[in-house]
Amino acid sequence: MKGIILSGGSATRLRPCTKVTSKQLLPIYNRPMIYYPLNTLIKAGIKEILIIVAPERAGDYLNLLGSGKDFGVKFTYEIQDKPRGLSDAFIIGENFIDNDDVAMILGDNIFEDDLSEEIKNFKSGGKIFAKPVIDPERFGIIEIDKNGKAISIEEKPINPKSNLCITGLYIFDGRVVEAAKQLKPSARGEIEIVDLHNWYLSKGELEVAMVKGEWIDAGTFDSLLAAQILAKEKLQDKLII
Ligand code: DAU
Repeated sequence: MKGIILSGGSATRLRPCTKVTSKQLLPIYNRPMIYYPLNTLIKAGIKEILIIVAPERAGDYLNLLGSGKDFGVKFTYEIQDKPRGLSDAFIIGENFIDNDDVAMILGDNIFEDDLSEEIKNFKSGGKIFAKPVIDPERFGIIEIDKNGKAISIEEKPINPKSNLCITGLYIFDGRVVEAAKQLKPSARGEIEIVDLHNWYLSKGELEVAMVKGEWIDAGTFDSLLAAQILAKEKLQDKLII
């Protein structure tokens, strides 16, 4: 399985901190933010990782992470010139993915859980990771039945059908590239990740796993602070890089 870290965007919500650097390079306690999602992929045994970055920050990523040799993996870099949406990662990554299975994680998502087994167990179709939240209107939201099967998925719903957020770790088989190419931009002008989930859901091939430990999308100042505390208090002995 290959890995992608999506680490572009302009993070205007975190200005002025993101005026001269990328959000995903800001420190979370004693490591740059991107180390945490990288840990999730590397721990799961993924050796080939594509890092997608915004053009003006590419040099910073290369300086920090290099070839991957220091981490026992191989990094490939691609530029996303505009934030066209999360699904754009699979179009940018077409050659890299080369029909293999792929786990994509957002560069600002921090998981307490070791998800290695869930990642390694993936067989085919799509697999997403859900977690109850108190502010469902901020996220992709999934409604499930009593057997844990997905019923509906919506991006940032005004009237959420559940409080189950779809976190920023997604595993898809190689068909994801063609599926992403077929997507039309949403009202906010992005090709949405939830449309890929719905593509697999409509085929009955979307699996939902639960995140048990803490999960943080470190995209706001408050969640950045929460991530610092989580990293200091609970993650230090779990990190391998
Ligand atoms: O964190 C989980 C949530 O992430 C999911 O529940 C949502 O379904 C998903 O759409 C996403 O929502 P966000 O509001 O967090 O998306 P955002 O636009 O902030 O992008 C997430 C990260 O991906 C952010 O760190 C910037 C990066 N990004 C985003 C876009 C749209 C890119 O690198 N390129 C892009 O084109």
